[in-house]
Amino acid sequence: MSTVVVTGGTGTLGREVVRHLVEDGHDVVVTSRSATPSVWDSARTVQVDYRSPGTLRTAFEGADAIVHCATRVSGRRGGDVDLTGRVLDAARHTGCGNLVYISIVGVDRIPLRYYRTKIEAERLIEDSGLPWTILRTTQFHQLVIRLLNALTRPPLALVPDLSVQPIAAAEVGARLAELATARPAGRVPDMGGPEILAVPDLARRYLEAIGRHRLVRPIRLFGSVYKGFRAGHHLAPANASGTITFQEYLNARMRSPR
Ligand SMILES: NC(=O)c1ccc[n+]([C@@H]2O[C@H](COP(=O)([O-])OP(=O)(O)OC[C@H]3O[C@@H](n4cnc5c(N)ncnc54)[C@H](OP(=O)(O)O)[C@@H]3O)[C@@H](O)[C@H]2O)c1
Repeated sequence: MSTVVVTGGTGTLGREVVRHLVEDGHDVVVTSRSATPSVWDSARTVQVDYRSPGTLRTAFEGADAIVHCATRVSGRRGGDVDLTGRVLDAARHTGCGNLVYISIVGVDRIPLRYYRTKIEAERLIEDSGLPWTILRTTQFHQLVIRLLNALTRPPLALVPDLSVQPIAAAEVGARLAELATARPAGRVPDMGGPEILAVPDLARRYLEAIGRHRLVRPIRLFGSVYKGFRAGHHLAPANASGTITFQEYLNARMRSPR
């Protein structure tokens, strides 16, 4: 049995990591900014203030591994850089056998601001002196549905003419749990969902599932970010190891919405 700390263990991915670790019988600590986070009963929780090294060190004490899922999408320094720096400072202080980080396929090739912070965070980890593992995956089904929901609100749904390879956060969570309890592996093979699908097609499927009637119009966008997505730098066709399809996820979600 290992002791594993999951930062952001309250999030879409983090709670899946926690679930798999708990089910496998590990001692799991969830760090959260909230005093009363909602997580699995068998996981311990520690409230942390990422600006205060003391609270992070308390949470990391005795950890065999840390799975770093907490993310700051915006902020003055942006994204994950500052947050990851603080996690690394605390982990160096307490010692940690494996710092596992989740990143995104294409962060080094698509100049999205959030992606730039992810690649910078990856480099901080690689240079940290700590044993580390980094997994990059494609977009989660949950994120795709959130985006489709927003895009298909207007009567005419203008949807980017792009493809995505969505993956179930549950499968990524299982993989991270496995990596956290194994030896540090450095950068491991990317992980993508089972299918590459056109976003306008996904929008139509989503609209049908929720019974919303909209006209979907694919649109081309401009700029280097869109060009990177058009080139497919966010896809991992050779690593389509996820098995749960978007349609399966959507059907299950319609049966029991969360
Ligand atoms: N979503 C995707 O499609 C996708 C794909 C590939 C990789 N990833 C990566 O997977 C990781 C988790 O993503 P997710 O979608 O599960 O995120 P999420 O649901 O938004 O959860 C992120 C967690 O981070 C913590 N957090 C949020 N804002 C914070 C802040 N300002 N300071 C400190 N902690 C903060 C929150 O925990 P508390 O509120 O409890 O503190 C939250 O539970 C991220 O690193 C993301 O880049 C995501």
